[in-house]
Amino acid sequence: MLARSSLRAARSARSISSPTVTSDAQRNASSQSSSESAAAWKSNGLLASSTLLAVGSVSWYYYQFGRPTQAMTPAEEGLHAPVHPWEHTKLYKTFDHSALRRGFQVYREVCSACHSLQRLPYRKFVGSFMTVDEAKALAEESEYDTDPNDEGEVEKRPGKLSDYMLAPYKNDEAARAANNGALPPDLSLITKARHGGCDYIFALLTGYPEEPPAGAVVQSGLNFNPYFPGTGIGMARALYDGLVEYEDGTSATTSQMAKDVVEFLNWAAEPEMDDRKRMGWKVMAVTSVLFGLSVWVKRYKWSNVKTRRLAYQPPPPNAQKQPGSVFRR
Ligand code: HEC
Repeated sequence: MLARSSLRAARSARSISSPTVTSDAQRNASSQSSSESAAAWKSNGLLASSTLLAVGSVSWYYYQFGRPTQAMTPAEEGLHAPVHPWEHTKLYKTFDHSALRRGFQVYREVCSACHSLQRLPYRKFVGSFMTVDEAKALAEESEYDTDPNDEGEVEKRPGKLSDYMLAPYKNDEAARAANNGALPPDLSLITKARHGGCDYIFALLTGYPEEPPAGAVVQSGLNFNPYFPGTGIGMARALYDGLVEYEDGTSATTSQMAKDVVEFLNWAAEPEMDDRKRMGWKVMAVTSVLFGLSVWVKRYKWSNVKTRRLAYQPPPPNAQKQPGSVFRR
């Protein structure tokens, strides 16, 4: 195919440099006059100015209407979180399941005092970072309402694997009342619900300065955090070095705990990620084989069409006269 196309190219190149072109050029040269060159200048100028006008009007339109509008200034928006190379976000990586176990421990011992995780049932923990028995024991620590009995009484029962995690407060109002009016959001989908995802939450948890910088105005009851939009956040710094004791011996620094809990929260928002990636690779493997096959089949089926040559052979002038000629009518 390559050979064929290069042959074709060579042929056309030859036809371009053939004497017909030279004679054309000579003819043009002999008939060229000053009025013609002025016309060429005019059309070139017209072309250039209309291009300039088009480019100019597109850029003016973009300047006027195309740029994104921001409701808040960058300062009000909060500091941009530094981007970290999260292992689990790579295409070929799963969650680090021991980090998930540590992260859940941090959530349970620290964040669950204020934040709910209501979209997660205990059964999800099984096989991810807990055994069945551990998850059952954890579920049984919480009490849930039973269905009403024959007398309409609602009783309490220990939790089961199918139960969802309980919220720390009865309702949003109780949560606000306990937190100076600020509502601690449910953390089930928080990595998806915030601009910057994992990076933002990591920056938020580790970004509390010892003291607010000089000149910063912090309302009473709020804490200074440069990453939070508006910089005044209702949540005080939650993580301090050595706050939890990891059972696998990892040293519990603030950033280690923040990293683990962020990875855990990402798992909570996206528990299907490991399966999704594995399935994705399978799909890529199968479809690339199928693609290769279909390219081969196409070439195979078309090879007859691509390599045949159709030629018209006019009958020889005396065909009819010749006895036994195929052209005889
Ligand atoms: C003492 C209660 C308390 C604890 C403990 C706590 N938080 Fe918060 N958190 C809050 C409150 C209150 C807010 C709402 C702040 C606001 O809107 O000003 C909040 C907000 C947040 C937000 C949302 C910020 C935003 O952009 O809206 C995240 C994320 C968060 N907390 C994560 C955590 C994590 C992770 C932990 C555990 C390491 C934790 N919090 C521990 C009270 C708490």
